[in-house]
Amino acid sequence: MNISFLLLKDFRNYRHLELRLEPGVSLFFGRNASGKTNLLEACYYLSSLTSVRAERDHDLCRWGAKAFAAGCRVDDDGSSKTIKVQVAVEPALRRKVTVDDVPVRRSELIRVLPAVYFSPDDLYMIKRSSASRRKFLDSLLGRIDPEYARRLSRYQDALARRNNVLKKIRSDPSWRRTLESLDGILVEAGSMVTARRLTAMGDLQREVSETYAFIAGRPCGVSYASSIGVGEVGGDLEDISRKFEESLQAKREEETARGITLSGPHRDDIVLTLGGKEVRYFGSQGEQRSAALALKLAEAKMLEGAFGRKPVLLLDDVLSELDEYRRKKVLSLCDYGHQILITATDPIEDLAPDVTEFRVQDGSVEPYEGGGMA
Ligand SMILES: Nc1ncnc2c1ncn2[C@@H]1O[C@H](COP(=O)(O)OP(=O)(O)OP(=O)(O)O)[C@@H](O)[C@H]1O
Ligand SMILES: [Mg+2]
Repeated sequence: MNISFLLLKDFRNYRHLELRLEPGVSLFFGRNASGKTNLLEACYYLSSLTSVRAERDHDLCRWGAKAFAAGCRVDDDGSSKTIKVQVAVEPALRRKVTVDDVPVRRSELIRVLPAVYFSPDDLYMIKRSSASRRKFLDSLLGRIDPEYARRLSRYQDALARRNNVLKKIRSDPSWRRTLESLDGILVEAGSMVTARRLTAMGDLQREVSETYAFIAGRPCGVSYASSIGVGEVGGDLEDISRKFEESLQAKREEETARGITLSGPHRDDIVLTLGGKEVRYFGSQGEQRSAALALKLAEAKMLEGAFGRKPVLLLDDVLSELDEYRRKKVLSLCDYGHQILITATDPIEDLAPDVTEFRVQDGSVEPYEGGGMA
C-alpha cells in the first residue's frame, strides 16, 4: 500500500502542492524550517485527522488563509482510493472528509491509510515518566479499538471524581460512602482497560523485541509493570478486578492521606530492558532512540494486524543519531512492503539503492536527481 499522490492547499507553509510519490523510500531533504515536518504532518493528518503537534486544526491552516485542504491517492494491490479533507477555520470550524467522494467518519481513514509517525521527540517516550509510555499504548489501542478509547475515558472520569472525593474526605469523613460507590465504577472500567492492555502486551512484546533485534542486532525485553500486581500477559478480567479491589482496600488510608488514587491503569508502565537493564536509565542515546523506533515499528505491525495493510512509515529526522548499520536497517524496511517517507537536512548518499529524493524549499517540493545539482 502506498500514497501515490499528495495534494495540499494552504496547509501550514504549503500554498499549493501537488506531489507524485513512488512506493519504497522517499527522502525529503532541505534546510531547517523549509516544510519537511509539515509534509509528514499532512500525511498523518490524512490518516487520523489529528496533528502530530498541533492541538487545533486552526494551526494547520496557512497563516492568513481561512481554509485549507489536503488530499491523497492511496494505491493498494491494483486498486486506489482518494481521501480528501477540506477544513474551513473561519468564521467557524467546518470539516468535510471524504473517501472516493463519499463522506466518512474519522475512524474510517486509518483503514484506507494506516500510518505511523516517528519524530525525534519520541525519544522522550523512553526517557521520561511512565505517562508517555501509557499514552503510546492508549493511543495505539484507541485507534485499533474505538471501544477501548470509550472505556479509558470512562475510567479517567471516574478517577478524576474519585481523587476529588479523596481530597474531601480529609475534612469531611461522610464522603467515604461516595468513595465506595465510585470504587465500583473505577474497578469495572479500569479492569477492562488493564485486560485489554495485557492482551495487547503479548503482541507488543514480540513485535518490539523482534524490531529492536532487526534494527540493532540484539533483542530487547518488554514487560508490563502493573500497580495492582497483575503482570501476566492476557490477564483474566475477574482476576484483574479482584486484585484491583484488594489493592484499593490495602492503600485506602494512604490514598486518603495523599488525596490521590494509587492503584490502577493510570499508574502502570511499560518497561524496556536490554540485557536485563532498563533502557530508560542505562541505555545509550542510540539505544534509547532505537528502542523508541522499535516501539513505533511495533505499532506499525499492530496496525497491520488490525487493518490488513502495511502502514506508511513517516520518519521525521530519525537518521541523525543512528549509526550506519542502524540507518540501513531502517531504510531496508521498504523491502518488507512499507512505503517510507523520511526527512533529513541533507541528501543521503549510498544508504539505500532505490531512494527517491526530493528537495524541500520554502513550502515547495522538487524531485532531486543528486550529484552535482546540489
Ligand atoms: N500555519 C502555518 N502557516 C504558515 N507557516 C507555518 C504554519 N505553521 C508552521 N509554519 C512554518 O512552516 C515552516 C516549516 O516548518 P517545518 O516544521 O515543516 O520545518 P522543517 O523543514 O521540518 O524544519 P526542521 O529541519 O527545523 O525540522 C516553519 O518556518 C514554520 O514556522
Ligand atoms: Mg522538522
